[in-house]
Amino acid sequence: MKTSIEPHFIHQFIPATRPDLGITLLLLHGTGGNEQDLLPLGHELLPGAALLSPRGRVLENGMPRFFRRFGEGVFDTDDLKFQTHELNEFIKAAAQEYGLEQNKFVAVGYSNGANIAASLLLLHPHTLAGAILFRPMVPFTPEFDPDLAHKAVLLSGGMRDPIVPRNNTKSLAEMLTRFGAEIEVFWHQGGHELGQDDLTAAEQWLSRKVAL
Ligand code: MLT
Repeated sequence: MKTSIEPHFIHQFIPATRPDLGITLLLLHGTGGNEQDLLPLGHELLPGAALLSPRGRVLENGMPRFFRRFGEGVFDTDDLKFQTHELNEFIKAAAQEYGLEQNKFVAVGYSNGANIAASLLLLHPHTLAGAILFRPMVPFTPEFDPDLAHKAVLLSGGMRDPIVPRNNTKSLAEMLTRFGAEIEVFWHQGGHELGQDDLTAAEQWLSRKVAL
């Protein structure tokens, strides 16, 4: 979608067909994905909600990502923080362009997308009302403790995930709890891939939280 939104992210925006929901799902894809990937998931999780889906601006061997890394699970923290600030500015500008309520964004991130969503919670705690994080890791330990009171976060880890150790997802849950967020953790029985059980858990969580 071509717009004058700055900073520029290639993105898809799908307006709400149920504006009464008030919520915009911010869809953040995994490594090698793009802005189309999570649109079906967004429609399924909260039918009728507005969807904002940017493409990560970093390329790793041609694969889009939201930030650079030195190796699997080893993040370039400077770039992660820079890209998080850029994404935050993009969300604010997109909210203005499309007439969306600023404090009603719920991130739905998978893998690399979940990690930048976690980073967004830590660096810009006012931007998201909540987040669904599929296969997330601790992005970094913040210098200053963010106030995450009233932020609802679902973390969905994989019992047999070869990429994200369970302890890492648990550490993120503990960190977000320490900062005041309302955390729920779901364990998918398989690995890094998303399963129907993840979707059911996320759908149920979202329907309980829709009045965020
Ligand atoms: C990341 O780099 O964000 C994580 O290792 C997950 C991934 O994208 O593979």
